[in-house]
Amino acid sequence: MAAKVFVTHQLPGDRVHELAQCCELNVWMGPGLLSSAGLRSELTGARGLLCMLTDRVDKSLLDSLPDLKFVSSMSVGVDHIDVQALSERGIPVGNTPGVLVDTTADTAFALLLAAARRVTEADRFLRQGQWTIANAWAPDFFTGKDVSGATIGIIGLGEIGQAVARRAAGFGMRVLAWNRSPRSVPGVEMVGLDELLRRSDFVSVHVALTPETRNLLDADRIALMKPGAVLVNTARGGIVDEHALAAALAGGGLSAAGIDVFELEPVPADNPLLGLSNVVATPHIGSATTLTRARMADMAVDNIIAALEGRAMPCCVNPEVYD
Ligand code: DGY
Repeated sequence: MAAKVFVTHQLPGDRVHELAQCCELNVWMGPGLLSSAGLRSELTGARGLLCMLTDRVDKSLLDSLPDLKFVSSMSVGVDHIDVQALSERGIPVGNTPGVLVDTTADTAFALLLAAARRVTEADRFLRQGQWTIANAWAPDFFTGKDVSGATIGIIGLGEIGQAVARRAAGFGMRVLAWNRSPRSVPGVEMVGLDELLRRSDFVSVHVALTPETRNLLDADRIALMKPGAVLVNTARGGIVDEHALAAALAGGGLSAAGIDVFELEPVPADNPLLGLSNVVATPHIGSATTLTRARMADMAVDNIIAALEGRAMPCCVNPEVYD
């Protein structure tokens, strides 16, 4: 009997057609996302799960699914999965690193430029009919912050952080970085986290969300940031204290922020960042290009096909399960 594999969303890419040939494939067709209870019930009897970053895969789900043998997430981040619990059960967890590096770095830079030059604020001003003769132009009309010649501090110098560093160098920026393990990248000055925050005009976050990085930018660290600095976060919401950030932005300590990821997603309307005109907010679209999403889907599917064929997943975050 063919193994049952459950996929929590319709997938782009080509490889899904091959997957359909080698298992009993069930795909959630919506509408919307599956609830936890829905996921549990759809997974009954499944050997494999291909999930998204919106699906929580935790101990209690695993406890009710003795048949589950492999999980592949269409994401590079796996903070929605209790990897330790899966490892303890010998279940490999696949992810999709690499293919979204440039796309996510582009998003970080788009937010950095938009926040620095007040692009969305100016767009709203114009569309709301406020660009009138009385309000036509002035020397300080929508003045922002120069990017060229400024200092950027990159928190987390992995592949995406390095791609942001390359873009920053192209804009004539001085590049500082902090990483948990030592890194040496030409053109990048490695510094301590507190020094990075004190010296940077722009700070861009590129660490994974782990117990160590949760709340890494808390109120104390945000208070270290250079007056008028801009914060960009395309990594994960839980890394930055949103209330402390909102207070710094409202009080004028920081000049702007570009935020793609939130502690709670979809972001509730009462999130304090959403009420601030100096925040450019986007709904977790860091890797959202058609090509990149197709590549991510294909990688996630290849991980599942490998598991079905009894091979190690090509991209596995807990390869120790194969020892
Ligand atoms: C990921 O894959 O973890 C990204 O957050 C998707 O944009």
